[in-house]
Amino acid sequence: MEYFDQVNEAADAIKARVREVPSIGVVLGSGLGGFASRVSDAVSLSYDGLPHWPASRVAGHEGRLVVGSVRGRTVAVLAGRSHFYEGHDLRAVTFAVRVLGLLGTKVLMLTNAAGGINTELARGDLMVVDDHINLMGGNPLVGSNDDRFGPRFPDMTDVYSPRLRTIADRAALDANVPLRHGVYAALTGPSYETPAEIRYLRVIGADAVGMSTVPEAIVARHMGVEVLAVSCISNMAAGIEHRKLDHTEVVETTRRAGNRLAALLEGTIGHL
Ligand code: HPA
Repeated sequence: MEYFDQVNEAADAIKARVREVPSIGVVLGSGLGGFASRVSDAVSLSYDGLPHWPASRVAGHEGRLVVGSVRGRTVAVLAGRSHFYEGHDLRAVTFAVRVLGLLGTKVLMLTNAAGGINTELARGDLMVVDDHINLMGGNPLVGSNDDRFGPRFPDMTDVYSPRLRTIADRAALDANVPLRHGVYAALTGPSYETPAEIRYLRVIGADAVGMSTVPEAIVARHMGVEVLAVSCISNMAAGIEHRKLDHTEVVETTRRAGNRLAALLEGTIGHL
């Protein structure tokens, strides 16, 4: 079966089970699952039960799609994503975003845990992604282009919507949540970076580093979906502080930032 048809089947399976088709998508990163509890009249669908859906199996990540209402808008929340480092190819990694796009989602909000490279960032900070550097060594659009999704050579000038970034700033002010901005570099992982790699990333203009988000953002833009991405700085990147990196700590820090992030997302949705 063609990829497009697989995406379409998954979208149909969701349509059959929700009251209203979502216009906003939210992807929750490691330890950031808390936002799902802000969804009212929620229908929760396990990824296991959705056709062609890749499984996510990392500690701190769930595996369900929650569709319901936030501030009067119908939102699809992906609690759990697939990562390239799990061995999924980038088409599998971005499958869920394709499904949301075919469902008619116009706005996609991506969240992640990231290591802070810019020393003006601190652990626990939230950072709006202004731009990215794709160092994953792959692009989800490689392969024959399906014009039903989008063009062969999509523009990437404003991957992260200036309109949504401004709205997020306003929502942050309203909710009294400090919000930083910066450039996110995506690497494959799963090993964390070396201190030398972090120095290199700083030189090329990255403020934070992580292992997700960029393939999803590229695919969303391919489909003409507007993107906002917010990183939770879960740790300072390797070599910046004299401590080793640990996934448990990453999840713990993001969990503590979860309420602020959820308030930010909810406020942003309220302004859309
Ligand atoms: N590096 C890469 N990915 C990450 C990090 C990091 O330091 N922290 C959370 N995700």
